[in-house]
Amino acid sequence: MKLSKLLSLLPIASLASAIDLTVTDSASIKKAAGIAASKLRALYPNTESWFIPGEFGLIQTADGKNNQGYYWWEAGAAMGAWVDYWYYTGDTAYNDIVTEALLFQVGPDRDYQPPNQTLALGNDDQAFWAIAAMSAAERGYPDPPKDKPQWLALAQAVFNRQAKRWDTAACEGGLRWQVFSSNKGYDYKNAVSNGLFFHLGARLARYTGNQTYADWAVKTWDWSLHNGLVSKDYKVFDGSHIPECVVSSKIQWSYNAGIYLAGAAYMYDNYVINGDTANAAKWKKLTDSLLKATDEPFFNRLPEHKNIMRESACESNPPYTAPPTCNTDQRSFKAYLSRFMGVTYQLINDDAMKTWIMDRLQASATAAAKACDGGSDKQTCGLSWIRGTYDGSPYGIAKGGVGEHMAVMEVIQALMAPNTKPPYTEKSGGTSKGDATAGSGSSSLTAADLMQTEPTTTADRAGAGILTTICLGGLLGLTYWLIRE
Ligand SMILES: *[C@@H]1O[C@H](CO)[C@@H](O)[C@H](O)[C@H]1NC(C)=O
Ligand SMILES: *[C@@H]1O[C@H](CO)[C@@H](O)[C@H](O)[C@H]1NC(C)=O
Repeated sequence: MKLSKLLSLLPIASLASAIDLTVTDSASIKKAAGIAASKLRALYPNTESWFIPGEFGLIQTADGKNNQGYYWWEAGAAMGAWVDYWYYTGDTAYNDIVTEALLFQVGPDRDYQPPNQTLALGNDDQAFWAIAAMSAAERGYPDPPKDKPQWLALAQAVFNRQAKRWDTAACEGGLRWQVFSSNKGYDYKNAVSNGLFFHLGARLARYTGNQTYADWAVKTWDWSLHNGLVSKDYKVFDGSHIPECVVSSKIQWSYNAGIYLAGAAYMYDNYVINGDTANAAKWKKLTDSLLKATDEPFFNRLPEHKNIMRESACESNPPYTAPPTCNTDQRSFKAYLSRFMGVTYQLINDDAMKTWIMDRLQASATAAAKACDGGSDKQTCGLSWIRGTYDGSPYGIAKGGVGEHMAVMEVIQALMAPNTKPPYTEKSGGTSKGDATAGSGSSSLTAADLMQTEPTTTADRAGAGILTTICLGGLLGLTYWLIRE
């Protein structure tokens, strides 16, 4: 046989570079998502001696200095991403670690408030764990044993806790970012905390049929508009300070847009299920407006990068002379916009909107797969998808990449949205046991009101809690690497 003929018979795998993806082929989508999922899995430190289920732990810089931790919330986000991964692909490979983590981090009151995460526990951080549990309920993810907390009840517990934090003392309502007055950001009412409360309420309303959740979701939506977190043209801004109560950071993050978008889609479908056509029409219009408002900040218009998702507040632009400024949290945000566009696709009964979403998910997933040609395995994923090749992320950090790989996994698996059933409800396949009173027990967390420190610059605010380095850390036994400042 001639050499050229022999070469042509070499299996593709041995020449693998980047992730192979045909966006219209289910088998290819599943395989590509599986590669990203295994890359994410490789960053989960469960073979380390210091491993704690539901924590990614340390990120080491190449020079061994400047070590930082992943915040607690990002592991909750990853568990939610893997629940969807299982649902979209049928691959059970990560279910054991996901179930273990989702149950390990519930805390003594079964409400995702583990005491030793007090410094990293804003309303948004807690809610990311809650929506992972909610996804488990909605996707029919295997239920835990009866003596363990159940997915739906966990989501309800977080919702009930947060409803009690609705704060009319400032800005006529809304949730503060932080739960504890000792944490920086207690004087900040932001989109991610209020958006997630709205979003979780909408999902609980649809899943359980209980109107109380829908009422809260409407109230939180109305307040978000009133406060300006959601603008008149449906852009979602980062947040506003107390006592001014006007938007003080107009930064737009893709995850905030996605959180409100999917919340609106769940509200729409909740009213469709209830046969309330007027409200269904109202929320369909809102979903459409929120969807179209994502275009200008997050989807590239350059012809060569058309419809490719970009975290525009921190990713670099062509010709890429400046490195991206996205922090560890922000590198994961495109994961959630992708996830929430996927579920919006499943919920919204409108062909034009579905096409609009799928055009963007397909272009983004194609570009994301190409951005995964880095590292010695030639399948390590970068941050920026528009470059069409690995961009060097995470920039000098030896063991980063959770956000980058989670985002690639989610944008690829979301392509399965058309081929799978929409989220279940209690009446359409869901089996998770709820508890409407969950989360009302006495909280073990009554962190003393230590001194409140000045908030830092707006650029630092997105994502999980900005932590104070005051002695609280020592008091609560929180390891130093969780503290960013
Ligand atoms: C938090 O507390 C749990 C339960 O006591 C423990 O297993 C875990 O190691 C602690 N995590 C941290 C980061 O200290
Ligand atoms: C509906 O939810 C609210 C708020 O959690 C709860 O108080 C109420 O008991 C629930 N109603 C039913 C019928 O479960």
